[in-house]
Amino acid sequence: MSKIFFVLNGPNLNMLGKREPGIYGGKTLADIEADCAAYAKDNGFSIDFRQSNHEGTLVDWLHEASEASAGVAINAGAYTHTSVALHDAIRAIGAPVVELHISNVHAREEFRHKSMIAPACKGVICGFGPHSYILALQALKNLTQ
Ligand code: DQA
Repeated sequence: MSKIFFVLNGPNLNMLGKREPGIYGGKTLADIEADCAAYAKDNGFSIDFRQSNHEGTLVDWLHEASEASAGVAINAGAYTHTSVALHDAIRAIGAPVVELHISNVHAREEFRHKSMIAPACKGVICGFGPHSYILALQALKNLTQ
């Protein structure tokens, strides 16, 4: 059976396509999911791609990923900058987790420069637009070879 990676998306990412296109581009989350699925197929693994606006749901999904996946790519949206609960959930699970962002958070407002989850993750990818998702999957593939 092929390896599964979870791709988890946090608040407001369901609004991609309409939301601040000057920052996030014109692709919808469904477009990004399709790109990730195509990359996964070409590389012999599969993905379980999800989005929630609720912090606790993301915590539950990280716990689930511990049993049901080989690793997690997470765009935690604004919870990146605030969530001790996500930090703790990432530390609690065995599966490797890669943090990703569409925008370059370090080139934006100061409150986006701090990530609560980065110290718990294997690494961070940001600033490459929707391609950040592909880079995160590539990193997971290499980490779990
Ligand atoms: C984001 C960056 C976050 O600061 C922001 O709150 C988001 C999206 C990104 O993908 O660039 O919702 O995670």
